[in-house]
Amino acid sequence: MNYRVALAVTAVLMSSVTPVVRAQSPASLTVDVNRPKAAVSSTLYGLMTEEINHSYDGGLYAELIRNRTFRSDWTGILNWFLVEKGTASATVTVDATEGPSAALPNSARLEVAKADASSPAGLLNEGYWGIAVRPNTRYSGSFFAKSKSDGALPVKIALIADTSGQVLASTSAVVTGSGWKEYKFEMQSGNVPASSENHLELTVDRPATLWLQLVSLFPPTYHGRANGNRIDIMEKLVAMHPSFLRFPGGNYVEGNRIENHFDWRKTIGPLVDRPTHPTTWSYHSADGMGLLEFLEWCEDLHMEPVLAVFAGYSLGGEVVRPGPALDQYVQEALDEIEYVTGGADTTWGARRARDGHPAPFALRYVEIGNEDGFDKAKTYDGRFAQFYKAIKAKHPNLQVIATIPVRGTVPDVLDDHYYKREQGMFEESRHYDTADRSGPKVFVGEWATREGGPTPNFGGALGDAAFMTGLERNSDLVVMAAYAPLFVNVEPGAMQWSSDLIGYDSLNSYGSPSYYAQVIFASCLGDHTLNSSVSGAGEKFFYSVTGSAKSNRLCLKLVNASSSAQPIAITLSGLGTGNHTAQFETLQARTTWATNTINDPTRIVPVRSTVSISGERLEHTMPGYSIQVLEVFLK
Ligand code: AHR
Repeated sequence: MNYRVALAVTAVLMSSVTPVVRAQSPASLTVDVNRPKAAVSSTLYGLMTEEINHSYDGGLYAELIRNRTFRSDWTGILNWFLVEKGTASATVTVDATEGPSAALPNSARLEVAKADASSPAGLLNEGYWGIAVRPNTRYSGSFFAKSKSDGALPVKIALIADTSGQVLASTSAVVTGSGWKEYKFEMQSGNVPASSENHLELTVDRPATLWLQLVSLFPPTYHGRANGNRIDIMEKLVAMHPSFLRFPGGNYVEGNRIENHFDWRKTIGPLVDRPTHPTTWSYHSADGMGLLEFLEWCEDLHMEPVLAVFAGYSLGGEVVRPGPALDQYVQEALDEIEYVTGGADTTWGARRARDGHPAPFALRYVEIGNEDGFDKAKTYDGRFAQFYKAIKAKHPNLQVIATIPVRGTVPDVLDDHYYKREQGMFEESRHYDTADRSGPKVFVGEWATREGGPTPNFGGALGDAAFMTGLERNSDLVVMAAYAPLFVNVEPGAMQWSSDLIGYDSLNSYGSPSYYAQVIFASCLGDHTLNSSVSGAGEKFFYSVTGSAKSNRLCLKLVNASSSAQPIAITLSGLGTGNHTAQFETLQARTTWATNTINDPTRIVPVRSTVSISGERLEHTMPGYSIQVLEVFLK
């Protein structure tokens, strides 16, 4: 069989096995353009963040050096390796008696017995699954060091391609004297291709003893912040129009043990004064992303902070019972609130000013703990009451969020979490339609359709979009909602939790179909829902409609989670005669298993089209497996 015939036969066979997908029965959807129903929260869509899946270290936080503080295990210093070129000879050990600060009391001790200009010796850092190097880019670094000799010891710093050994950028710093000092350096890459299979080397060209600590290297960061964030990932967040950031967790606020909870006091000030700490997700946090960095992240993206405070319960089950023993943690939370909101005339406000941010941050929401339903000792009623009373006494205007329903105190807001498969999220999309409106407001602080990994597939996006229609319809009650987890480093071994919104490696990042569903939902949201009704639609059809008098527009969210097309006659009653411009954003896939990946990041992205609505009616057919946002400009 020749090639052409084979193709023709294949085409016939394919058409005979491709299922004939009939359209579903036509549906009618009527919207009363001029009949507002309920308020929509201006803070409905936001972000939830925690250290999981290398969200910060090896993720958003732009630090390129992994284990910059030289932690070690039985194999040696993690992520660092000895360099002995040519005839050089050296050893490296952790020196537990030498460090630049009380927080970092140890260091790497490099003993170079033999080295010269053609045979240097030193240390190599592998980065977070490589170090991204881009063309013509400036890298800013620093390290703490001391040397045994009183003379000058030049240290060469270079970014080197793993395979070719090409030096992509280099510079040197001269270590002088036998006391600890910080050395800063800059280096610039040339016209090299962007790549991530690179490492950093620090070498000397003579026999010496050199102690090193806190070796750090940053590429350009978002808004040029020192100790800042990756530009590509921040730009992805901007497109989500987030109104708030819930931080620092999640389980991350709790720690596995109480001693490992997110102790914000150990995450502020110069990096050399941050001791670092173990996370709940099997790796260690460098704590470069500390309390002030979270707040600056909020500032950069115009998000309001939703501050989660440690509430005396940690994930492994340790609990501090309500009463005097809990007072120190209540005080820790009050001090934290003062660090965020206090004027420079307060103790912790002054500390924030010293840390570089004199202006206080606005704060409306404080969350007490995380998922306290797991507390087997059932102490949350008492713990919540103790925090609530102390916080309200000092800050009566703060809204206090409880992580589960509590007895004895009425929280301002309750945090509900949803992690389900697609079908489960379809059902949950109706969860709040008949919910009681007389109690606390709701914060859906974590939710996700858990289908696909490391990032969700299109089935996940359909479940998410269906769920979001329910959030919008009920946003008089649901004041905030955030998908979780937000981030995943997709390298093998980096992930602890699948179905994460945004994936990346050290060089690139991409949005999942679920990410794009959020982008298009958040890009068009009115300030009230509109009276509407639907009839004749299939079971897997979901919608919400909001309007905004201020911006003169109507936003209709349509979800067809069926494989078959869904014809819909849309009547926008009250729109009036004449032509109205409208625009569709469509996200669509052939199967629920279709997805985006780090190597194929844009298979499923929104496609924009414009329509002209003549009069009040629009005959429309939604493709199978599609999510659409129709934005109608009213005037
Ligand atoms: O987002 C992943 C985890 O799920 C969070 O840390 C925790 O709050 C929830 O159980």
